[in-house]
Amino acid sequence: MAALTLQPRLRLSVLARIATLLAVGLWGQTTAGAYDTTVCGQTAYTIPSNNMTFNANAWNPDDEGFQCISVQDSPPAFAATWSWSSNSETVHSYPHVKLTAPGLPTPLSNISALVLSAQWSMGPGSTPRPALVVDHDGLANHGTSANVAFDIFVDPNAANARSEKTAATEIMIWVGRFGHAEPLGFDANMKKTCFTQTVGDAEFVLYQGHNDRGTNVLSWVATSNHTTFAAEVSPLLQYLWRNGLVSAGSHVGLVSFGSEAYHSDGIVTFSASEFDMHLVTGAAPNLAVGDLPAECSRAASTNPPQWLLSSASITAVVSATLLYLIS
Ligand SMILES: *[C@@H]1O[C@H](CO)[C@@H](O)[C@H](O)[C@H]1NC(C)=O
Ligand SMILES: *[C@@H]1O[C@H](CO)[C@@H](O)[C@H](O)[C@H]1NC(C)=O
Ligand SMILES: *[C@@H]1O[C@H](CO)[C@@H](O)[C@H](O)[C@H]1NC(C)=O
Repeated sequence: MAALTLQPRLRLSVLARIATLLAVGLWGQTTAGAYDTTVCGQTAYTIPSNNMTFNANAWNPDDEGFQCISVQDSPPAFAATWSWSSNSETVHSYPHVKLTAPGLPTPLSNISALVLSAQWSMGPGSTPRPALVVDHDGLANHGTSANVAFDIFVDPNAANARSEKTAATEIMIWVGRFGHAEPLGFDANMKKTCFTQTVGDAEFVLYQGHNDRGTNVLSWVATSNHTTFAAEVSPLLQYLWRNGLVSAGSHVGLVSFGSEAYHSDGIVTFSASEFDMHLVTGAAPNLAVGDLPAECSRAASTNPPQWLLSSASITAVVSATLLYLIS
């Protein structure tokens, strides 16, 4: 999620109300009773029995469009229906669930394991697809640009880390990418470089940039879509703090899972279930620098992020590329 908080426009709220009626009507016909609540625009909903919070989060609406989120209380699941058809360049909404765990906030260096998991689906129209189903052709026909991502907020100050608006650093883990959705600092020539880490069966490439609020955004972007994801992602965090890209003492305060919606000519529904976070606090296990794979010579990284070259010695650049979990 990026930065600006814009006032909701009157037009959006009207459209959102229409969209709610539409969405509730359609879901009533197709998956009767599946969802307990629908909220739209910038409204949040909290499941009373467990305080799990969901937010439609249309923080940057364009002239044409809406964002709603329908929530099933038990077991927790949601379907986010949206359309943003006028401005294709930026993120308009991030419908999401906030994941909670005892132990947050905690310093990055005090995370010994962080398991993130989720299942999702995406397709055109207002009807959620079954878990793991992606209608690639339908999304392409709508010109859909969106991602599916975990969003982790980090700040040296534990209180600041608890809010998207005050955290100095945002660490994203993209497990889906459609159309022209690009992380901040995206470089098409950097699809596969040494700034790559594998966790579970997913390979991630790191990009870095700043959003409009000035938040430092570090994005690990999976090289393929993972409609079912469950992995111990602390190596992705260690890569960042052991190389000084974020301070080791920075606290993780907030973790969300959702989909950043950029653009679609027609209605799209993203749905999610089985989302969870499991945090083990305590001193982080040691990561060690392994052997340099042949393809990871400095020359192979033709487009390393500027910040790494300018702020580190060449030795540090090389070692930054190779962290392997020993224990
Ligand atoms: C939900 O949050 C409220 C307010 O913080 C708290 O009083 C309540 O005990 C919480 N309920 C559950 C089930 O955690
Ligand atoms: C995810 O699927 C879409 C649609 O088929 C495809 O265009 C895109 O390249 C995939 N994303 C990744 C990261 O492979
Ligand atoms: C670090 O983790 C330990 C073990 O869970 C915990 O007792 C301690 O409070 C944590 N420290 C901080 C600063 O959060």
